[in-house]
Amino acid sequence: MNETLTRFERTAPTGSDLPVLITPASAGQLLTDAAFGLRHRIDEALMLAGGVLLRDFGVPTIESFQQFAASFGHPLLKYEFASTPRSAVSATGVYTSTEYPAHQHIPLHNEQAYTREWPMKIWFHCVTASPVGGETPIADSRAIHRRMPQRIRSLFEPGILYVRNYGEFDVPWQKVFNTDSRAEVEAFCRRAGIRWEWKPDGDLRTQQLCQAVETHPATGEKLWFNQAHLFHVSNLQAEVRESLEELLGIENLPRNVFFADGTRIDDAIFDEVRAVLAAETVSFRWQEGDVLMLDNMLVAHARAPFQGPRKVVVAMAEPHGNLGNF
Ligand SMILES: [Fe+2]
Repeated sequence: MNETLTRFERTAPTGSDLPVLITPASAGQLLTDAAFGLRHRIDEALMLAGGVLLRDFGVPTIESFQQFAASFGHPLLKYEFASTPRSAVSATGVYTSTEYPAHQHIPLHNEQAYTREWPMKIWFHCVTASPVGGETPIADSRAIHRRMPQRIRSLFEPGILYVRNYGEFDVPWQKVFNTDSRAEVEAFCRRAGIRWEWKPDGDLRTQQLCQAVETHPATGEKLWFNQAHLFHVSNLQAEVRESLEELLGIENLPRNVFFADGTRIDDAIFDEVRAVLAAETVSFRWQEGDVLMLDNMLVAHARAPFQGPRKVVVAMAEPHGNLGNF
């Protein structure tokens, strides 16, 4: 579709346009200077393909990345109700990408699809490209939904119940909710449609019924939109899973997911889900200075394991959700 697609190497399923590559008209053009003129092209590519890669533009500082992301007209979001550790790298909405150990693979996911309000836009900026690995693979959530076996789609359509136990085996609740106040946690949960429970040891358990399949508000297309495969206990390494199950009991696992009616989901279902995700994955090498902009509903992202230094920062904007109608 786009002749510039041939200018960079990527692995992708047949027919994929992801990500649409946009390069400067003149060498060294600053991304912040180009932003206004690119706006129409970016919006169009986001709507059709779901993601654009802005390459070879000048992005001299994290502040200029932040300025570019903010130029789309929505304030950058704070990372609330987090599921993973990350750090703020600026006062206004730029974060490190998830701080998981380098050797770990972070599976494909739409940001905050494990809750009922999520950002519509997400930007990644490669400050330091890892010499080995460290890609941010992406995948079209519409294509994932189409490829998912009908049997699994039907099982997931009523929604997915996410259960989290915060504490020493996962991010502590104080960090997840950015507060030490139980009352503030409860107010957040009430607003977000989350059921909560304080356990006798002072730790917190939450349960939230969320969408597994969602409709895009602008394109009207159905999307696979959940993080069930990340939260399900089958996401743990076998020996970690075994010891946590033994030590804590199923109900106290740091994270797990169930069908909407609370019944357990077999590992075999997630084998199929993961195979579909793998089949739709697009991967390319980061180049320093790159900015990847995604419609967070249309396109999921992941992180490949890496060696050596790597710095990819993230910004998000435009909250959207289904709090009122799910
Ligand atoms: Fe993410």
